[in-house]
Amino acid sequence: MKERILVTGGTGYIGSHTVVELQNSGYEVIIVDNLSNSRADVVDRIAQITGIRPFFELVDCLNYADLDAVFRKYPGIKGVIHFAASKAVGESVQKPLLYYRNNLVSLINILELMSKHNVPAIIFSSSCTVYGQPDKLPVTESAPIKKAESPYGNTKQINEEIICDTVKSGVDVRAILLRYFNPIGAHPSALIGELPSGVPQNLVPYLTQTAIGIREKLSVFGDDYHTPDGSCIRDYIYVVDLAKAHVVAMNRILQDKQKEKVEVFNIGTGRGLSVLELIHAFEAATGVKLNYQISERRAGDIEQVWADPAYANEELGWKAETSIEDTLRSAWNWQLKLREAGIQ
Ligand code: UFG
Repeated sequence: MKERILVTGGTGYIGSHTVVELQNSGYEVIIVDNLSNSRADVVDRIAQITGIRPFFELVDCLNYADLDAVFRKYPGIKGVIHFAASKAVGESVQKPLLYYRNNLVSLINILELMSKHNVPAIIFSSSCTVYGQPDKLPVTESAPIKKAESPYGNTKQINEEIICDTVKSGVDVRAILLRYFNPIGAHPSALIGELPSGVPQNLVPYLTQTAIGIREKLSVFGDDYHTPDGSCIRDYIYVVDLAKAHVVAMNRILQDKQKEKVEVFNIGTGRGLSVLELIHAFEAATGVKLNYQISERRAGDIEQVWADPAYANEELGWKAETSIEDTLRSAWNWQLKLREAGIQ
């Protein structure tokens, strides 16, 4: 019988790509999502890609009773992958309580219900944001956690602590915290991808919307940083590679291969790319010329961060494999597909 995995936020950007990879690897998936930042037809798209329709429950993780009902409806869940969260850094500064409620209460509900229903494994979506501006690059998992720059970042740090404390308390739960760097791109089928609502805050959706003419110009936020070309450096990882990391992490817990009951892995490529390098890579990969200008720095930006993914490479046997060119082409194909579908 297929092993059952509950994926919260499974119709979202990273969630949907992960559901595809889980199903392709033989897991049975139950998606829980409140559709606050995604669309119900993502479930149809996943079915189209994989030939398997995941179960879908329109439930908010803040609602304990509704979530409890999901665990009762699908007995024998082996693991949870918890994506459901609010994720806009800027918005979290404006609405801190919304972020603390959504991101903390959801996780607490999940952990309580895992205990109640004897679900032993959780994979948590964490972020390289917990490192702030690291003192040493590339950054390893043992780098110090810096004071969070935003309520959003703080919720990721607190979530990690909540999981560690829960496991320490002796309940039968094991966890893997995946610290993502910057996920970009879309599924090669162009059936699922990132669907930013309103004006995109992140670089690649803004870039592809500019390239297609929805936005007039991309602003490069600062060219006076202490980096070779002056623009900020990030570790951009293909969302499908990132999705695969969740599958190997889940296998690792369920096959009892962990070294500790809570493990932490950096999920990045190990390569830092500046904003300007990324723009030029996009132009080279797609042949599309981009209208951009240098503008002021954006408040709160980290100057440079990229991963040391060696621990994930060795221990998980996982590696980011896709080139930046293929990744950017996938983002562009997705943008073209959105236009075809009349979605902007
Ligand atoms: N940038 C621009 N112009 C834009 C948008 C972004 O120049 O229009 C630059 C930013 O200044 C930054 C880089 O592109 O240097 C990447 O910016 P993103 O907003 O795409 O990503 P961030 O690195 O700021 O943030 C992302 C996620 C967060 C996560 C964080 C971890 O959005 O959820 O990575 O570092 F916490």
